[in-house]
Amino acid sequence: MHALLSIVGLAFLSDLAQAAPASQPQGNNNNNGGGPRVGIAVSDKISSDLKALVGEGSKVDWYYTWELNDSPVIRKANPNAEFLPQVGPQDVIAGDNPTLGGGVAEKLRDLQKSGSKRLLCFNEPDEEVRNGGTYMAPELAAKYYKNVIMPLQKEGWQISHPVVTGSPRGLGWLQEFAKKCREMNNNADCPADFVSVHWYGVFGGLENWVKQLDGFYNSYSNNPKFWFTELGVPKAGVEGQGTPAENEEFLTQARQLFQKKNNVDAYAWFGVNRENHSNAWTGSGVSLFNNEGKLNKLGTMVKSG
Ligand SMILES: *[C@@H]1O[C@H](CO)[C@@H](O)[C@H](O)[C@H]1NC(C)=O
Repeated sequence: MHALLSIVGLAFLSDLAQAAPASQPQGNNNNNGGGPRVGIAVSDKISSDLKALVGEGSKVDWYYTWELNDSPVIRKANPNAEFLPQVGPQDVIAGDNPTLGGGVAEKLRDLQKSGSKRLLCFNEPDEEVRNGGTYMAPELAAKYYKNVIMPLQKEGWQISHPVVTGSPRGLGWLQEFAKKCREMNNNADCPADFVSVHWYGVFGGLENWVKQLDGFYNSYSNNPKFWFTELGVPKAGVEGQGTPAENEEFLTQARQLFQKKNNVDAYAWFGVNRENHSNAWTGSGVSLFNNEGKLNKLGTMVKSG
């Protein structure tokens, strides 16, 4: 999903969750007391709201905007917050040898100078554009990845594979992408320094998704760490479909799971918006602010890590 567009395919895979997650308590490489780094997916850009969320006393130390533009408000409120730019298909000039579009390479260099280190690419390629995805064939994404994203590693970027949804399509898309990319890369795995993915749904489904990801990336020699860059329980808070507390419970459980695992380095909540400015698909239950722009309970949980 992206910003307020939405209706992402969702995956309530709760019943598939079995067995305990591989758990091995140990610290992650970050500054949140050994837990995963706390981030935000910046959808609404109301300055006072953003300042309240990332300013003084906040554990939020990274963010992204689904695009190459960072947030001057966040930069000012917390100069140390890491911004992760995201390259989209619109930033690539198609052709036999795809290249970055005009100005994109320069833009990325400027972002590196101001502290960006990690790069996201291709938001929800397994999801249709009208639902907030970039709907790319795995083969095309692989071609872009090989030609445009992988070379950025040599310029010092840490790169992630395209960011799939947690729907049942997500894993299949990734598998196909990896296969096609390998074929274009002399049969070597197309590298990922980390892997960004999304999850919407109940906690049991998240556990299952993590297990599937663990299984798939097991074969990658560098054991890439996971970044959950969109999280939320859709429809909680909508009359007859759930309660607002479901998101709070989910966040608590998700954090415990991430904390126990040694390969989830970061997560970002989706819902940087006021309750009355939520999209129809997520519903207002994911929101971090009330209608006056004050952090609600969930917002306070995110802020305090
Ligand atoms: C949300 O609520 C506030 C306060 O009641 C109001 O000023 C604002 O216009 C509302 N926004 C939307 C998008 O409905």
